[in-house]
Amino acid sequence: MNKLTIIKPDDWHLHLRDSPYLEAVVRDSARQFGRAIIMPNLNPPVRSCADAMAYRKRIMAALADESDFEPLMTLYLTDNTSVEDIRAASKSTSIHGAKLYPAGATTNSDAGVTDLAKLAPVFEAMQDSGLMLQVHGESTASDVDVFDREKVFIDKSLQRIRADYPELRIVFEHITTKEAVDFVRAGDVNLAATITPHHLLINRNAIFQGGIRPHHYCLPIVKREHHRRALVEAAVSGETRFFSGTDSAPHSRVAKQSACGCAGIYSAHSALELYAEAFDELGDFTHFESFVSLNGAHFYRLPPNRDSVTLQRLQWTVPDSLPYPESCLIPFRAGETLNWKLIHDD
Ligand code: DOR
Ligand code: ZN
Repeated sequence: MNKLTIIKPDDWHLHLRDSPYLEAVVRDSARQFGRAIIMPNLNPPVRSCADAMAYRKRIMAALADESDFEPLMTLYLTDNTSVEDIRAASKSTSIHGAKLYPAGATTNSDAGVTDLAKLAPVFEAMQDSGLMLQVHGESTASDVDVFDREKVFIDKSLQRIRADYPELRIVFEHITTKEAVDFVRAGDVNLAATITPHHLLINRNAIFQGGIRPHHYCLPIVKREHHRRALVEAAVSGETRFFSGTDSAPHSRVAKQSACGCAGIYSAHSALELYAEAFDELGDFTHFESFVSLNGAHFYRLPPNRDSVTLQRLQWTVPDSLPYPESCLIPFRAGETLNWKLIHDD
């Protein structure tokens, strides 16, 4: 298998930030993906439909009509999100979900949800209207080990949400553990998961390889090798409730390489090539197109993209750094060789 022509893929979890950072990264995604679910964790967050529409406008302006990339907007849930906010979002053709960040779980999540019980009317409205819930699935309890946060969230929170709102449509985002794979598999048509390229390609040793590696730090943190293998198997399996979501999360080199470095891996620059690299591990591309181009669209009840893209087995080197305001951006796999290259976009 040396060439893959597939329906243009989508990124079901992406951080684009805001001006002037937005302008530095948005074209990387637009080159490869038809659409992307845009994370609302700006500062201040995207809390209302008006916020989402204004942000969408800034994204379109940053693209400067150079592509037909479509940003799919999401709202940021807080303790004060109202049923009216949800009803309005569900009527908008530009808004495709509401994101649950447990308060304090990750970058710009301080305004997130402190108590899931408070969201009962919001979850009910989402269940009724069919508005998707996107979940950052990590417990924030201070006594929980950082490597166990996803598992504890499943056991203590996600199971409960699923039981209380069985018709609520949920994307469990950027899953990182075998427990999460098993939980999604055991779920029904209302539960799916995204998997990032970095969680498919590295395990936790990569954070400490010869020293501390801040560019391999993200949340949820990468886990042990057997978890990585479970993720690869799920992605390659063709099971329709697993799909691409890069969680590409740019932070400047200075913000990453600091005494308290930010969480986030920038993969948008070569996301599709990285997914191909992950599938190459098992040498099975049978369901590659399903994973990156079909499963997510199906779950989000959107048609597949019309264009196609071609990847070729071709060695190339990821740049050491990319332009970014204030310092620069270090992409995932900087300076390393990849074996697949996106060659054209019809
Ligand atoms: O590593 C991460 N970075 N995980 C997240 O959940 C947020 C993201 C960011 O916004 O930087
Ligand atoms: Zn994210």
